[in-house]
Amino acid sequence: DARARLQGSLLAWYDRTYRELPWRTPPRGGENGDTPGADPYRVWLSEIMLQQTTVATVIPYYRAFLSRWPDVAALARAPLDDVLHAWQGLGYYARARNLHRCARQIVSQWGGRFPSREADLRALSGVGPYTAAAIMAIAFGQKATPVDGNVVRVTARLFCVSTALPHARAEIEALAGTLTADRRPGDFAQAMMDLGATVCTAKKALCVHCPWKGDCRAHARGTPLDYPRKTAK
Ligand code: ADE
Repeated sequence: DARARLQGSLLAWYDRTYRELPWRTPPRGGENGDTPGADPYRVWLSEIMLQQTTVATVIPYYRAFLSRWPDVAALARAPLDDVLHAWQGLGYYARARNLHRCARQIVSQWGGRFPSREADLRALSGVGPYTAAAIMAIAFGQKATPVDGNVVRVTARLFCVSTALPHARAEIEALAGTLTADRRPGDFAQAMMDLGATVCTAKKALCVHCPWKGDCRAHARGTPLDYPRKTAK
């Protein structure tokens, strides 16, 4: 069916073109497709840093944090001031304060091991629906759909969602959720992010390179840049 075709074509595209980023493990196609690969600490740290900051800016900070504080226990032991100082240049310092508080919660409440259930993740400082879903899918291989701006755009175009943002948010999240496969949910989530970051961008839709062009309603109409709609009609 259409879902299976969309899942298969996006994962195959990701296997060929995925961006090698320091927090990523290589795509896990083939026999071990369902084996969780990524360290939850690394997934959490990278996703918090990436929330209001570009990939290019995040990379050196991510590397510096990881070499200085290689696991969540090390970060929890650090004085807050050291963490805030290392965060300098990333902006939005509430993220750094929550990061440090969250590290201490994971040590005191979870013995230094990240929980894998959504409710337990959501109870941590600074972990909202997006971050919880990213950790579940990417670190624990569970079916979950982190919906960031890239995923909103790709999904709105694929389905020609006519409702405008922000009202359309719930509808788009539900549609994105129906796309997510049981297999390789972490790769699928990151493939959606890559598609939105490199092919289906806000300013350009490079449809000739898109694995979904045969199914995309906005492409069929010839108006991908009209989605997601931003003002009520
Ligand atoms: N932006 C947010 N999370 C990301 C990820 N895991 N890979 C690339 N870009 C992202």
